[in-house]
Amino acid sequence: MKIDHIGIAVRSLSSAVATYENLIGVTASGYDQVDEQGVRVAMLNIGESRIELLEPTGPNSPIEKFMAKRGEGIHHIAVRVDDIEAELRRLKESGVRLIDEKPRRGAHNTKIAFIHPSSTSGVLLELVQHG
Ligand code: CO
Repeated sequence: MKIDHIGIAVRSLSSAVATYENLIGVTASGYDQVDEQGVRVAMLNIGESRIELLEPTGPNSPIEKFMAKRGEGIHHIAVRVDDIEAELRRLKESGVRLIDEKPRRGAHNTKIAFIHPSSTSGVLLELVQHG
């Protein structure tokens, strides 16, 4: 497994992109919008991993709800897997609490699923399968 990306909740994608482009010294790429999840995203490559900036698309967005409670900041850590269905089965069988028992559509043609923070020492973990 690898860290695929770190998701950061932001109020303004354009302003956060400018900040992180300056911090990391790369141009953001991979703009996408996922309506089912109420997010607009931009990706910045950093080494083998990426920073994913997440802006809510409206008041019902999970990112909006997160920020209402906790403000901007790290929202999740995503781990890359080859076979997300197999990983979800394995985790469920070992008693891990899943938010998604079935993968859903993520940005950039990925399949994703979230693991509940109560099973991960308080961190929202995302599994992501590319391609
Ligand atoms: Co993510």
